[in-house]
Amino acid sequence: MNQEMLERTRWFMNDRFGMFIHWGLYAIPAAGEWIMSERRIPVKQYEEYFHQFDPVDFDPASWARLCKKAGMKYAVMTAKHHDGFCLFDSALTDYKSTAAKAGRDLVREFLDAFRAEGLKVGLYYSLLDWHHPDYPKYNDINHPMRGNEAYRNEVIDFDRYLDYMHGQVRELVSGYGKLDILWFDFSYDDMCGEKWRAAELIRMVRSYQPDVIIDNRLEGSGEKNGSIATDHPSVFSGDFASPEQIIPPQGMQDESGLPIPWELCATMNNHWGYCSWDSLYKTPQTIIRKLVECVSKGGNMILNVGPDAKGRIPDESVKILEKVGRFMDRNRESIYGCGISKTAKPEWGRYTQNGDTVYAHVYETPLGALPLYGIGPDRVKRVTRLADGSELIRGEAWNTAMYPDIAFVSLGDNPVFSYPLPDEDDTVLKIELSL
Ligand code: GLC
Repeated sequence: MNQEMLERTRWFMNDRFGMFIHWGLYAIPAAGEWIMSERRIPVKQYEEYFHQFDPVDFDPASWARLCKKAGMKYAVMTAKHHDGFCLFDSALTDYKSTAAKAGRDLVREFLDAFRAEGLKVGLYYSLLDWHHPDYPKYNDINHPMRGNEAYRNEVIDFDRYLDYMHGQVRELVSGYGKLDILWFDFSYDDMCGEKWRAAELIRMVRSYQPDVIIDNRLEGSGEKNGSIATDHPSVFSGDFASPEQIIPPQGMQDESGLPIPWELCATMNNHWGYCSWDSLYKTPQTIIRKLVECVSKGGNMILNVGPDAKGRIPDESVKILEKVGRFMDRNRESIYGCGISKTAKPEWGRYTQNGDTVYAHVYETPLGALPLYGIGPDRVKRVTRLADGSELIRGEAWNTAMYPDIAFVSLGDNPVFSYPLPDEDDTVLKIELSL
């Protein structure tokens, strides 16, 4: 991890919580964004969705308001996913939203609307492309036409694809204003690093967007980190790691043990792209607690929504985000700017920390006063409940006398009985420490 990467990611590690938006033609078959590969759909057949795509209810301003209301500080939308369809007005293809019924540059509208809400913005761009004729097929492990005899002897010019891919990235970084994040996806097998002409790509990107932060998937994926987790990151290692659907048990460090920036990417149900039958949503409580877990391990969380074919974010996602937003509204101070706590994880929840302030995220009702494990009585200046600013009185009493190294706070009048916690999702206590 070098100094430049740390500088660039400073805002990102402060902001902690973002929105991922996976949207494209796959919203029509409505079974996730891998459907073209999973069902081995030929290009011509999949293009039917291109002719149908008409998101009449797309209202990016309402998405941006929701994002902000949820307490998210940044958003990243798919400019192109693996199916190759572009949500922007690329001069290099007609397979794009401006040429579909939609007739709109969805990327530009997304960026304008989110920036107008004061949110940071980023674009996801798939390195894979199942629509481009020069992308490998027969021997590729992901391509819809993998193992298809018709493609066994096909001659392709992969460099032509790379020119196209680099050209599109150039369009995005040069024609859409300041981008805060670029989210490339993903490397596999030998399709990795210089196979993408990654050094050249990064140089080009940085010439237009010197401050943009880039994920690690020009050589990584959900399966591997690439060199970002080593002491000698390559020029295309990216600025942050991107664990997928898993929170790294111990956060993330390089070989010297220094923390590296990372962002958990997670779905709200079990799909990135809209899936009409997937109702297995995480509860707001789970999302809040997983966000807290990420922060307590020094990471971010980018939580996905998959808008439908009409351009609406599913109602269930909206409801969950609004509930998460109510928590964030009152407790944001325990998330933004916070990170790993010097104090070990307490058994009733988690600690996050910002300088001399520790935030206790209490999930479990204590029996009696709450022990602030790892924090001595002399170090506590003041404890308040973050949601309402109410002061908590100290809970040391005759029955805590045997534990003189632990500070206790009372969550109610009678310290020997248990109480329902004021916020069952996460009751946050702000503990101001003296030096
Ligand atoms: C995976 C999937 C992809 C998704 C991404 C998000 O790599 O291929 O569909 O966009 O993860 O992290």
